[in-house]
Amino acid sequence: MKKIIAAVTSLVMLCGMTSCSSKDEKDEKNGKKVVGLCMPSVDLERWNTDGEYLKNLFEKAGYEVKLVFSQNDATRQNNDILSILNDGVDLLLIAAVDGNALAKPLDDAMSKGIPVVAYDRLIMNTKAITYYVSFDNFEVGRLQGGYIRDALDLDNAPDSYSIEFVSGDSGDNNASIFFDGAKDVLDQYIKSGKLKVLSGKTTFEETAIKRWETENAENEMKKTLSKYYTDKQLDAVLCANDSTALGVIQAIESGYKGGNQPVITGQDGDIENLKKIIDGEQSMTVFKNVRDEASVAFEVSKRLLNGETPTGRLIDSLAVDVRYDTESYQNGAKYVQSYLLVPAVITKDNLQVMVNTGLYQWDANNKYIENAAK
Ligand code: BGC
Repeated sequence: MKKIIAAVTSLVMLCGMTSCSSKDEKDEKNGKKVVGLCMPSVDLERWNTDGEYLKNLFEKAGYEVKLVFSQNDATRQNNDILSILNDGVDLLLIAAVDGNALAKPLDDAMSKGIPVVAYDRLIMNTKAITYYVSFDNFEVGRLQGGYIRDALDLDNAPDSYSIEFVSGDSGDNNASIFFDGAKDVLDQYIKSGKLKVLSGKTTFEETAIKRWETENAENEMKKTLSKYYTDKQLDAVLCANDSTALGVIQAIESGYKGGNQPVITGQDGDIENLKKIIDGEQSMTVFKNVRDEASVAFEVSKRLLNGETPTGRLIDSLAVDVRYDTESYQNGAKYVQSYLLVPAVITKDNLQVMVNTGLYQWDANNKYIENAAK
């Protein structure tokens, strides 16, 4: 598991969770509106980045921010949100650990009239969600599946190939959508026999990886390799994101004797994975520009905090490629108004695209990519 635990995070968590006078006292003190930012975990590069961007945007605009990370623990996230609500807050922006497990805090938020924006992951079975800001998750899966189709040239190749699926956490609503997107492209080749899944695991439930963790993905892949691929070649692994791809790469390094380098997908553009892409151990990643996602979430939230009702017209004022969608995300209680950004395929041939965003830079040897200096 990638441990990116910034010292600043714990500081932020501390001041977010302990310096807690009531909202009225705060309002009297500084007149600032308070925004609660609830991220799943500090253990994954992306949520640190999201948290940091969002915090900066809101603070620069004069809001007080409470940023919490909940260690990928749904119970803890419930308690963290309840505690923020108790202290007083004007808007909640939540990337859920488990989209089905937030009923209590969201009922509270709704009864207090506090708007809730679902960030990146949809929150299920509640009317409390006012808006959803994310990337086009189905398209992320389609890009991963399409990459495998093209890399193996499935439309023309005379041979059949083997593939395995390594999916995300079943509590994350995105995970099954990524899977469905990938299957939308690959199912026809599985049906025709061009792609064979030797483990027989072809459903989301059979391939889900608890908490998206590298270690869990590695263990699952090791089992699959030793059971089905000791004398067979593994041609591709559809990994749902970069943390699971790392686990698969580790399992392949230690336990695969096939001699070929399987095609391996990913998602997020984590620094460690970009290195694997440059070294030829991972084939691609789906890059989601988190700074853009944070800025759209900020613009939506700002309007809500001003008592406005954002609509599709908002996108005209945004400098980001984003689609307004009211039909794709049904959370079990209602269709949630969504702002969906556009993901992009990154391979070793177009890494410069990421550098061009200004968020990354080449290292001193011009070989690997690192975060841009701040
Ligand atoms: C996010 C991915 C991330 C995964 C694991 C998903 O909901 O969309 O970007 O890799 O969670 O944290």
